[in-house]
Amino acid sequence: METTETIYAMPRIGDKAPDFTAKTTKGVIKFSDFAKGKWTLLFSHPADFTPVCTTEMSGFATRKAEFDALNTELMGLSIDSVHAHLGWVNNVRNNTGVYFDFPIIADIDMKVSKLYGMLQPNESETAAVRAVFFIDPSKKIRLIMYYPLNVGRNMNEILRALDALQVSDKNGVAMPLDWERGDKVIIPPPKNLEEMEQRLSDDSCERTDFYLCKRDL
Ligand code: BEZ
Repeated sequence: METTETIYAMPRIGDKAPDFTAKTTKGVIKFSDFAKGKWTLLFSHPADFTPVCTTEMSGFATRKAEFDALNTELMGLSIDSVHAHLGWVNNVRNNTGVYFDFPIIADIDMKVSKLYGMLQPNESETAAVRAVFFIDPSKKIRLIMYYPLNVGRNMNEILRALDALQVSDKNGVAMPLDWERGDKVIIPPPKNLEEMEQRLSDDSCERTDFYLCKRDL
């Protein structure tokens, strides 16, 4: 099958989150004014009134208190109108009691989708893929997830990764495979021979070798 050559910018980890002003279900929002002093999860879904998207948005909504506890605001997006968003929000509330109480961008002109690499034309030319941008309080992009149209994301992993980023920042440590709250964390490896020798005789950490040592938080 032939593929299109259209290429849009793809923000990268470490980049400043591109700024924009957009219509949302909570009015017009300028992104740089949103969630001051907080983390932001900016995520896209392909379309309103679709099944996988309904499960995902309901997941964000029902676990909003956990995002609040992590000082994080949610902002959704799809290439649909505010009118369609409102109809879907009300429909899901009527069907399930779940209310999407966070702004959802109506990206009808695809401006934000293109700015954030959410429009990936070989997957769909008209619908955003399932992206999640983890953006810290300084508006730097810290982690990016992209999922295709046919596979829903994992809310436990989204929350785990957000927590891991914050715990890493706070304690100057790194997180091993499958890290979860309560697990040991990785101490930064030594930067010179002197630090290496110290680490080799440091019995306060769980040492595999000088470059891999773990400790409790
Ligand atoms: C869904 O959310 O179910 C969906 C949306 C777009 C394409 C495929 C699935």
